Amino acid sequence: MDDEIHEGSREVETGDSGVADTPRDRTTDITSGLGLDEVLEDGADTQGLFDDLLSGEPIFENKEVLRPSYTPQELPHRNNQINQMATILVSALRGETPSNVLIYGKTGTGKTASAKFVSEELESTSRKYDVPCEVEYINCEVTDTQYRVLAQLANKFIEKNRTHIEERVANLETILDSGSLADTEFDTMTAVKERLERLESELAEMDPVPMTGWPTDRVYTTFLKAVDHHERMVVIMLDEIDKLVEKSGDDTLYNLSRMNSEFTRSRISIMGISNDLKFTDFLDPRVKSSLGEEEIVFPPYDANQLRDILQHRSEMSFKSGALTDDVIPLCAAFAAQEHGDARRALDLLRTAGELAERGQADTVAENHVRKAQDKIELDRVVEVVRTLPTQSKIVLFAIILLEKNGVHNINTGEVFNIYKRLCEEIEADVLTQRRVTDLISELDMLGIVNAVVVSKGRYGRTKEISLSVPTDETEVVLLSDSRLGSVEDAEPFVQARFDN
Ligand SMILES: Nc1ncnc2c1ncn2[C@@H]1O[C@H](COP(=O)(O)OP(=O)(O)OP(=O)(O)O)[C@@H](O)[C@H]1O
Ligand SMILES: [Mg+2]
Repeated sequence: MDDEIHEGSREVETGDSGVADTPRDRTTDITSGLGLDEVLEDGADTQGLFDDLLSGEPIFENKEVLRPSYTPQELPHRNNQINQMATILVSALRGETPSNVLIYGKTGTGKTASAKFVSEELESTSRKYDVPCEVEYINCEVTDTQYRVLAQLANKFIEKNRTHIEERVANLETILDSGSLADTEFDTMTAVKERLERLESELAEMDPVPMTGWPTDRVYTTFLKAVDHHERMVVIMLDEIDKLVEKSGDDTLYNLSRMNSEFTRSRISIMGISNDLKFTDFLDPRVKSSLGEEEIVFPPYDANQLRDILQHRSEMSFKSGALTDDVIPLCAAFAAQEHGDARRALDLLRTAGELAERGQADTVAENHVRKAQDKIELDRVVEVVRTLPTQSKIVLFAIILLEKNGVHNINTGEVFNIYKRLCEEIEADVLTQRRVTDLISELDMLGIVNAVVVSKGRYGRTKEISLSVPTDETEVVLLSDSRLGSVEDAEPFVQARFDN
């Protein structure tokens, strides 16, 4: 039997008779009952399980082009910003230190894509003219402490220095092997050997910085020495720089911005990118003025601009004729409502395509976009709800229980009563009604509930609360939390709401 399996699979790989010739009893034996046999029925023209899906493919040409990881080579409606960046950074190619730059703009306005595009252009031009200019990109959402930023930078330069030295070592070895000093800077072979030994001992000393454990000033000095190893201009791009400041203050920026006075051969310049327009409020004034020597703003896209962006990307990602005419305008319109977010627009277009593909439609149509919009919105809600702190989850659960039991115009007192009982049930701390009111306001800001203040005349004012998200889906997410999941039967709590 073993042999047969082996042969069978070999046939699939090599023979053009393909899947259809695979011996029958082979599949029945391995996957009895799975029905592969039916799928692989007799005859060379029979379609396999995946054939239909593969050959179908009327929708996508290259889906990767729509993913966030793809860096587009053309960025419509960003010429202005890209030119501003280039105008500042061109100094680096002339051997001068570029001003530091801060780039601002709301999420999805093309900051990261533009910065990456510009840095690739800068590096390729520097190679073309053979000027030492390098760009280092750091995403501070991931690398969010001074230690990590400095260590990551130090290690990148140590790596580059190693390559640099290894190349020179290889050159010297060629000279030694050839036995000729013609066209070299050396007078004797001994001098070559001595240089080689020096470089090799230098290499041996170049250890990378460990990801934790060193005192920060040692990491700092190592980074400084690594950059200053030979002459070069370095642009450090700190994307999501606000996350770094939020997590670990402005020490990193302070230290980086003073570093040029300590280099003897190199210079650095910093390009900070942020979608939080206010983050500089938290900076030391010296850091603020040094970092913000130049500022570039990325305004939100309007619907027409989003349409161009989508049009452009869709030509590479979809088969021709796969999109009906209203798909791109509708995606653009939805995303324009979300403060002109190109990421959202691209997500919508990709998801609409995936829904069409799954529904085995030949083209993507308006209804797929609408469904995609609902799906993305639901995904967002699920993510927000899933990551809420436990106390907020309990408050939200109380609101859901009330709604599910037909209570309208829910007020804070009602929520609080159910909340209290839920807390007792799962042995959580009970917060004050005032704190619960705050948590309701937070849920309101997150768009999960809607709380309007209504005046009750001489009885003062109260909040009327309603859910802004789909009840059942939200409840499922809440109950997937191990603590809330232990609430067996919540009905009695709701019954009891009139007791208080
Ligand atoms: N002008 C444009 N042309 C083509 N694609 C664009 C354009 N602007 C943005 N995009 C695409 O939209 C998505 C979001 O852009 P990007 O990541 O650059 O946004 P961002 O401003 O950095 O947002 P955030 O602040 O959330 O990091 C990416 O997939 C990017 O390729
Ligand atoms: Mg970004």
